[in-house]
Amino acid sequence: MDLFQPFTIKGMTTKNRIVMPPMCQYSAKDGQVNAWHMQHYTSRAVGQIGTIIIEMTDVSPEGRITDHDLGLWEDAQIAPLKELIASIKALEPDVKIGIQLAHAGRKAEDAPEIVAPSALAFSEEYKVPHALTTEETKAMVQKFQAAAIRALTAGVDFIELHGAHGYLIHQFQSKRTNQRVDEYQELPRFGVEVIQAVKAVMPEEMPLFFRISALEYAPDGYDLEQGCDLAKAYQAAGVDVFHVSSGGESTVGPAVSPKGYQLEAASAIKKVTGLPTIAVGRLEEFIFADGVIASGQADMVAIGRGVLADPYWPIHAAQTLGYELAIPKQYTRGIRFKKTV
Ligand SMILES: Cc1cc2nc3c(=O)[nH]c(=O)nc-3n(C[C@H](O)[C@H](O)[C@H](O)COP(=O)(O)O)c2cc1C
Repeated sequence: MDLFQPFTIKGMTTKNRIVMPPMCQYSAKDGQVNAWHMQHYTSRAVGQIGTIIIEMTDVSPEGRITDHDLGLWEDAQIAPLKELIASIKALEPDVKIGIQLAHAGRKAEDAPEIVAPSALAFSEEYKVPHALTTEETKAMVQKFQAAAIRALTAGVDFIELHGAHGYLIHQFQSKRTNQRVDEYQELPRFGVEVIQAVKAVMPEEMPLFFRISALEYAPDGYDLEQGCDLAKAYQAAGVDVFHVSSGGESTVGPAVSPKGYQLEAASAIKKVTGLPTIAVGRLEEFIFADGVIASGQADMVAIGRGVLADPYWPIHAAQTLGYELAIPKQYTRGIRFKKTV
C-alpha cells in the first residue's frame, strides 16, 4: 500500500490516501463561503488531494470560534457552499468533499453569550459559558442534524463531526468539562446522540467521519485508553471513520509537536475499532507519510500545515516518491513525473 492507492469506505472511493484536514480560514462573513474559500479549496483539488474536509462549519451562530467561521445554521448558507462544491468537482470530478460540522461551545471567542455542558470557562481570557439545560442540549443535537441536511443539500460526499480540540462535543465527552447531573452526565451521550441524529439523515452508503481527541494533556484529563473507550461508544452509534487528533481541552499541551506525534493514537483507535482511520499531525515529509500507509498504522494521512504551505503537496510527493499522477492537462507541460517501474 502507498499514498496513491485508492481507498473505499462504504459507498465512497477516494483516488488516493491524502486528506486535506479541516482548517479554519476565519475568512467568512455571516458564515458564508466566499472567493477566498473558492481559491483555497479548488487549488488543493488541482494539487491532487484525494479527500478535502472543509473547515469547521458551525451549526449555530454562537458556536463560532470567531465571527468569521463558516456556518450552516441557516438555509442562505447552502447556495455558496453548493457553488464551492460544484466548482471543485468541475475541475477534479474524482475528489471527495466532506465538511466538518462543529460547535465551539466554551471556546467561542466573539459571541456575547456562549454555551457549554457546564458553566466552566476555558481560561481567564474566555467568557463563562451558560450551562445548556437538558432541553437546550436536545435542541443542540437537532441543530447538528439540521446543518447536516443543509450540507447534504449542498452536495457533500461525506460529513465529519468535530469531536476534538476542546469544542462542544469534546466538552461533553470529558469529565473535566462535563459536570452535569442530568442524563448528559454520561460522557459519550451527547456525541452518541449527535452521531445518531446525523446518521439518520445521511444516505446509507455515505460514510460518517468523526474527529476525536484520542487523549487529553491536562493532568486530570482522559488518557488514550479512555479515548479508545469513547471511540468504541461512537462506533456503536454509527461512526464509519475516525480522524485521530488529540488535546485542545486546556491550555496544557506538548510544547513541540514532533513528526507523527499523534500516530500512536491513530493506530490504537484503528486497532480497537477495526475502522478506517486517518492519521494527522506533522506527517508532511513525503517518505514518512508514505511509510504510514505502507506500515498500516493508518489508512489515510491528513496533511494540514503542509498543504497550506504547498497546495501541490500530493504532486510533489509523487515526484519525490516516483509515482505518476493524472493531472489537469493545462499543467502537463510544466509538471513532469518520473516513470514508475
Ligand atoms: C490554520 C489552521 C486551522 C485549523 N482549523 C481546524 C479546524 O477547523 N478543525 C479541526 O479539526 N482542526 C483544525 N486545525 C488542525 C488541523 O486540522 C490539523 O489537525 C493540525 O494542523 C495538525 O496537522 P498538521 O501537522 O499536518 O498541520 C487547524 C490547523 C490550522 C493550522
